[in-house]
Amino acid sequence: MGRVLNFNSITLRLSVMFAMSAIILLAGTGIFLYRFLEHELMRRDHEELIGKVDLYRHLLSAVDSEEQVVDTPNMFRDVIIGHPHLSLALLDRRGNILLSATDWKPPKELLENPVEVDAEPSRATMSMPTPDQPYHAIAAWGALGGNHTNKVLIALALNIDEAQSLLMRYRQTLLITLLFSVITAASLALIIARRGLRPLHAMAETASEISASHLQKRLSVADAPAELKELAVAFNSMLARLHNSFARLSDFSSDLAHELRTPINNLMGQTQVALSRQRNAEEYRAVLESNLEEYERLARMIRDMLFLAQADNAQSDNAQEPMHRELLNLRAELDKIAEFYQMAADERGVSIITNGSGAIIADRILVQRAIGNLISNALQHSPPNSEVHAIFSSTDETVELRVSNHGQGIPDKHLEKIFDRFYRITNSRSRTDTGSGLGLAIVKSIMELHGGRVSVESQANQLTIFTLHFPKTAPSVTTYTA
Ligand SMILES: Nc1ncnc2c1ncn2[C@@H]1O[C@H](COP(=O)(O)OP(=O)(O)OP(=O)(O)O)[C@@H](O)[C@H]1O
Ligand SMILES: [Mg+2]
Repeated sequence: MGRVLNFNSITLRLSVMFAMSAIILLAGTGIFLYRFLEHELMRRDHEELIGKVDLYRHLLSAVDSEEQVVDTPNMFRDVIIGHPHLSLALLDRRGNILLSATDWKPPKELLENPVEVDAEPSRATMSMPTPDQPYHAIAAWGALGGNHTNKVLIALALNIDEAQSLLMRYRQTLLITLLFSVITAASLALIIARRGLRPLHAMAETASEISASHLQKRLSVADAPAELKELAVAFNSMLARLHNSFARLSDFSSDLAHELRTPINNLMGQTQVALSRQRNAEEYRAVLESNLEEYERLARMIRDMLFLAQADNAQSDNAQEPMHRELLNLRAELDKIAEFYQMAADERGVSIITNGSGAIIADRILVQRAIGNLISNALQHSPPNSEVHAIFSSTDETVELRVSNHGQGIPDKHLEKIFDRFYRITNSRSRTDTGSGLGLAIVKSIMELHGGRVSVESQANQLTIFTLHFPKTAPSVTTYTA
């Protein structure tokens, strides 16, 4: 509750909107009721006047002449005794006042259009109050002794003071009530909004406890209100991704240190042994040659890592080196690579068989590298006198290259990790352990750069198949003929 209100706050906006709605609703209701009361009061006044006209007509029917009216004034005045807001005047046909109560002089306009002797008085014949004449009034002829030719003009007025003061009191009460309601509504709105937003603060609090070293913390989705569930789920999955990336990053640096240690230790050991005593030129040469191998291995690893770092960079928006995309005849590229590896294959007695065709827009050097890495792996893990197949096939949306070889295969538990950096399957039966475990990571990176992917399937002691899935992005690809 101690939080300071900020103008850019949901709490404040909700409170203001809530309070405004309450005010509009209350004021609307108040105004409606006020109008209703005003109308009802007027109707009551009009009906009272009509009733009094009827009464005076009745009294006049019992009187025979104007003189008799003048002689029996009390009979007429009695009717309005106790009604201080009512005024009466009885006039003869020439407009002379025969009798009046409260010394009221009816205005000329009122007398110009009286209700005829045989017509019923109605609300339509009423004259409305004006600032000079603050009363409702009516004028109607009344027959003397039931004789329609002998008549007296009845003028009646009803003062609006009483109604006015009632309405004024109502207005004052309404205003005070409204003021209180506004204050109450605003305070209630503030409390409700703050309560409603409490889960959001709780979430923010949990979120603020999360740091790089506490990435395993999660927002509670079960406790979150429906509106915030989606946010909590999205936030949690972002945390999971961050956690993953962080874990991979720290694995990567420890792997890197580990990978660098072996060749450096070898180099150091060989150099120390060589220096331990006097040696001839031939022996030094042998040491240097052996060192060169380690240097080459190190250089290759550094080059591969640089490549991966650049590929990561290219995938983020601040790519330094753009890719050189061009239309590639994939079969031609594959055949070039097969030729390149022919010697290594011959040494093992393995033949490389290529087939199919395909065309995509891609970076030539990168595609060659990806295919080359797969072929080199396949050759390394093929038994002697076997075949490595590299075959293209196309669907409407993709061009696929399947590189398959016979061999021991890759156990399931390794399948999803072999694309990780530095991941190798250490196997006593594997013939070579010269690789650094970056080859497939590079293939994966290259495929991602091209909007494609790489997949693998492997059966123990049968086929291991790596498939590159290239998307056909440009329409011109389909019209390309090899
Ligand atoms: N065709 C294959 N058959 C069986 N195992 C394979 C095949 N291709 C890759 N592997 C396994 O996957 C692991 C990772 O391969 P990757 O190409 O990433 O690394 P590497 O070949 O050991 O080193 P590098 O390619 O960097 O020289 C290898 O150690 C190997 O055990
Ligand atoms: Mg490899």
